[in-house]
Amino acid sequence: MPGLLDGKRILVTGVITDSSIAFHTAKVAQEQGAEVVLTGFGRMRLIERIAERLPKQAPVVELDVTNSEHLDGLSGKVGEYVDGLDGVVHSIGFAPASCLGADFLEAPWEDVSSALEISAYSLKSLTKACLPLMGQGGSVVGMDFDARVAWPAYDWMGVAKAALESTSRYLARELGPRGIRVNLVSAGPVRTMAAKSIPGFKGLEDTWGERAPLGWDVEDPTPVGQSVCALLSDWLPKTTGSMVMADGGFHALGA
Ligand SMILES: NC(=O)c1ccc[n+]([C@@H]2O[C@H](COP(=O)([O-])OP(=O)(O)OC[C@H]3O[C@@H](n4cnc5c(N)ncnc54)[C@H](O)[C@@H]3O)[C@@H](O)[C@H]2O)c1
Repeated sequence: MPGLLDGKRILVTGVITDSSIAFHTAKVAQEQGAEVVLTGFGRMRLIERIAERLPKQAPVVELDVTNSEHLDGLSGKVGEYVDGLDGVVHSIGFAPASCLGADFLEAPWEDVSSALEISAYSLKSLTKACLPLMGQGGSVVGMDFDARVAWPAYDWMGVAKAALESTSRYLARELGPRGIRVNLVSAGPVRTMAAKSIPGFKGLEDTWGERAPLGWDVEDPTPVGQSVCALLSDWLPKTTGSMVMADGGFHALGA
């Protein structure tokens, strides 16, 4: 049976464990016929070992999105494995402890700026770094947590996600003429390393499944990975600057 992503060359950032949304995105992408290259931040040996658990082992290129040397060298390094890119997945988020589940009014700018740089500005940095490998057309997908409202504990990460949402729209505007689509998948809560570091996030996890019309399993990142792969495919050709909700329908209901 033909795969949704047959022949596509996809760069996936953000694998750190086999619970990572990025890991499941890479897995689904490979199952659907894509050739996947990963980027890893910091713990390269660990990430290479995790990459061995994919259906097909994927090469891992080092990338800290705040490191301009890494960004400048990215297309050259990724180009050692693939002769171009049809898709790029941004699955990166970080905020210092003062920005999550602490006193919102006390988080210092130094910490907030780091959350914004790593979680929002980096969508631009990553996309720009990949452009030399992208021709006419392609798809960039980032990971969102619906930032149209304020959540318990999510605090400055929510502000960073609002910036990410806006950044994706401006990138869509800039790259539309090259046929490159830029979209976000807004996921429900998934129990990953990043999610576990948010004090108070558990309260959201507990109620999500009860409220979401389609139900929700915080231990299962596959539906989120499938939604990312749908955006990477050729089947949403006129969708850009959009936010696809992969949250079991939670967003559609009032309290
Ligand atoms: N888990 C959830 O409930 C949930 C819900 C909605 C959206 N998201 C988003 O999904 C994305 C992936 O998170 P996850 O939940 O899979 O957690 P995760 O901890 O598995 O992944 C976060 C990734 O960010 C990477 N990262 C952090 N700083 C970096 C830097 N400076 N340069 C490059 N990479 C860096 C980490 O190495 C890690 O791989 C994030 O954007 C997150 O906000 C998660």
